[in-house]
Amino acid sequence: MTDPSEITPAAGPSGAAPLRAAAFRGAALTSLLLSAIALWRGYGDGWFVVGVVCAMMLSAGTGGVQRKRLGQVLQSGPKASARSAVAEAVLTQIPDPVILVDRRAVVLEANRAAQILLPGLKVGHPLSFFLRSPDVLDGIEEVIETGGALRVEYSERVPTERTFEVHIGPLQAEASTVAVQSGVVLFFRDLTSARRLEAMRADFVANASHELRTPLASLLGFVETLQGPARDDPGARERFLEIMRVQAQRMRRLIDDLLSLSRIEMRAHVPPTQVVDLGSLVAPMVETFSPAAKEKGVMIRAALPPRPVRVLGDRDELLRVIENLIENAVKYGESGGAVDVTVESVEADRGPQDRLAVLSVQDYGPGIAPEHLPRLTERFYRVDVAQSRDKGGTGLGLAIVKHIVNRHRGRLDIASEPGQGARFTVRLPEAPSGL
Ligand SMILES: Nc1ncnc2c1ncn2[C@@H]1O[C@H](COP(=O)(O)OP(=O)(O)OP(=O)(O)O)[C@@H](O)[C@H]1O
Ligand SMILES: [Mg+2]
Repeated sequence: MTDPSEITPAAGPSGAAPLRAAAFRGAALTSLLLSAIALWRGYGDGWFVVGVVCAMMLSAGTGGVQRKRLGQVLQSGPKASARSAVAEAVLTQIPDPVILVDRRAVVLEANRAAQILLPGLKVGHPLSFFLRSPDVLDGIEEVIETGGALRVEYSERVPTERTFEVHIGPLQAEASTVAVQSGVVLFFRDLTSARRLEAMRADFVANASHELRTPLASLLGFVETLQGPARDDPGARERFLEIMRVQAQRMRRLIDDLLSLSRIEMRAHVPPTQVVDLGSLVAPMVETFSPAAKEKGVMIRAALPPRPVRVLGDRDELLRVIENLIENAVKYGESGGAVDVTVESVEADRGPQDRLAVLSVQDYGPGIAPEHLPRLTERFYRVDVAQSRDKGGTGLGLAIVKHIVNRHRGRLDIASEPGQGARFTVRLPEAPSGL
């Protein structure tokens, strides 16, 4: 960015001349007009006319100054203006939000990343209109008072939780650069990914160690038995080896699920950009599950729309959602004998221009008691732990579904009446028609 010591404000000869000339012309015209009116109306007092002329001249010198944007304020000649243009171009390209405010915390300049972070951010308006963070606003005051830089944290809750470290520093220009000598620069560094990583690491260790302990203990037990009492028993060896295979597979599945959950969480704040037809993802998944479901006496029926229902999504992640929901419906709703999978495009509440892609998976099994509904998407939460384990479940399926749906800026709703089955509905914003 421009070295402040090399820039001078608009008060320089070439920067101020056109402004002054325009102000002078305006003032002279106005005073002439007023004098003419005064004489015509009979106020023949010459001192009055002289007074009007003087007042207008004075106002030309002082009142004609306009608030100008940083790029213009800092110009003082071809070199400085070229450098200021470069500074603006650099500012635009910085991927992190950067905002420059004056000592009243009025926005003087903001780059594109800042406009995206704080929608509606406008030059010339107080920063507090757009950023309601007492820490940041107090920080600006402190920097102006002390002249020293400081860092504070700023968190956003909607649409997704994001945390920034805001570096607030004084913009130190030479005394001659009047326009910006007491400005403050705010630089936002996104800590979301780093924080998520930290939290996930802690969670991963706690959950994985807890869940892995059971199959691991069983594996070790069987190894010891095979080395000891069952050493010469071929029948027992076969049986135990089969149990050990199942336990090892369970451990592998658990680790796979945990890793994919953490991968999804890592990207939670980066919305997907591929255009995907939701209907075309459902059909192959229904085909995959149908043979095994039929063996259990469950019929999977799909109702798909004739036209594509397009969303901005990650194909693999959306397949994962459909897979988990159909798998659960077949697994836990077996007794209902049927599973209905539908995809449709519906009008959003906000109006006909916004449409939603809706995927729903309904089973007719035992359903889920209301007290469990809010907790189903928590990691490792299972209504019946033993039943889920028997069916090879890790309790991570719906947590994965929820995280994927959140990343897609969508909603997951679970409705169930015990004895009537359960309905899982995913609503995603449809892709804009131009894409
Ligand atoms: N359609 C359903 N009917 C009844 N209960 C369900 C249904 N879907 C999920 N559940 C309950 O919610 C719990 C959590 O489901 P989730 O998919 O997260 O884990 P899981 O199926 O046990 O394991 P995984 O999906 O990792 O194999 C299940 O253990 C089950 O108790
Ligand atoms: Mg599941």
